[in-house]
Amino acid sequence: EGRTPILESNSPALQFRVYAKCSTTKARASKMALPHFDAETPMFMPVGTMGTMKGLTTKQLEDLDCHVILGNTYHLGNRPGPELLEKVGGLHEFMNWPRGLLTDSGGFQMVSLLRLAKITEEGVEFRNPHDDSLMMLTPEMSIALQNSIGADIIMQLDDVVSSLTTGSRVEEAMLRSIRWLDRCIAAHKHPDRQNLFPIVQGGLDIGLRTRSALALAERNAPGYAIGGLSGGEAKDQFWRMVSLSTDILPENKPRYCMGVGYAEDLVVCSALGVDMYDCVFPTRTARFGNALTFTGSISLKSGKYAGDFRPIDEDCPCATCRNYTRAYLHGVVTKENVGCHLVSVHNIAFQMRLMKGIREAILRDEYPRFVRRFMQRRFGGTV
Ligand code: GUN
Ligand code: ZN
Repeated sequence: EGRTPILESNSPALQFRVYAKCSTTKARASKMALPHFDAETPMFMPVGTMGTMKGLTTKQLEDLDCHVILGNTYHLGNRPGPELLEKVGGLHEFMNWPRGLLTDSGGFQMVSLLRLAKITEEGVEFRNPHDDSLMMLTPEMSIALQNSIGADIIMQLDDVVSSLTTGSRVEEAMLRSIRWLDRCIAAHKHPDRQNLFPIVQGGLDIGLRTRSALALAERNAPGYAIGGLSGGEAKDQFWRMVSLSTDILPENKPRYCMGVGYAEDLVVCSALGVDMYDCVFPTRTARFGNALTFTGSISLKSGKYAGDFRPIDEDCPCATCRNYTRAYLHGVVTKENVGCHLVSVHNIAFQMRLMKGIREAILRDEYPRFVRRFMQRRFGGTV
């Protein structure tokens, strides 16, 4: 870079350098050197499904300038399986992805997707959807699995409750997540080449979140995640929890807000000092025929696009916008897989373009103006 960083941390497998901080918000622009790639933040990390029809290919993700993608831990438990993965040299080799890779611990997916899970102090107990047998995912097993997958960033197993849960269960889950974190740290075999991120929990409770963030900060991790949010809570509560967490987590380490992917959330959370995001939203909404734009989302299924021969977005450089019209996409999006695929390419390109805009605005120290313009275009009115 040639420039001197304002803040930095040098963990064994992650060097984080903050090059610009917004003078009025908590936004920052940084470089994060991972074992497989030097990523720029704030960044959005799309989900990279392997060789399936609905996801993008790793070639497309590289062309879209994605620096880090998410691998799916839960499916990997079944196939290809940890033994085969270790034999071929990890998931990077297996899916032919040369850049940054992050895996989640698996418990959240089990609890939220399968809803068959039972949580005990030992771990997450669930029924194998294939043969109905009882299985247990412990913190030790999650780390062993993520060690064989070999991602640059791996996540602790956490006890996640819905952000709408209240009462003693929220505190129990937060405290158990700290105990599980310590078991994950003890089980982690490759701290020299894989970064284990703890996850702040505590629901929507200021006291619980504060205790969680303080306990995690003591562990001196290479980076930190904020979890248990974006589950239907009010925006002001969501933002308050994010802001409180970034106030406590070390300023010289990356912060990752899990499961967040709406454009307005990326813009606001970046102002609150978040550096990394992931969400299935852009590709999931593409499958319903929705294309993301700076003025909002376009439902390509609507009959009003049948005779619209413009691209989704005139200013978008993606392969879909360069080669296809809204009319064409309207025709294929409901009937054919390729339609969803083309919209997915555009939606990931949109997320990448938004994040690039965020980074450049922070580097110019014009982030507040960027936020005002973004909100104006999206929601109208006077700001
Ligand atoms: N993905 C979205 N939110 C969460 C969370 O709180 N924990 C984990 N492990 N994954 C998530
Ligand atoms: Zn496009």
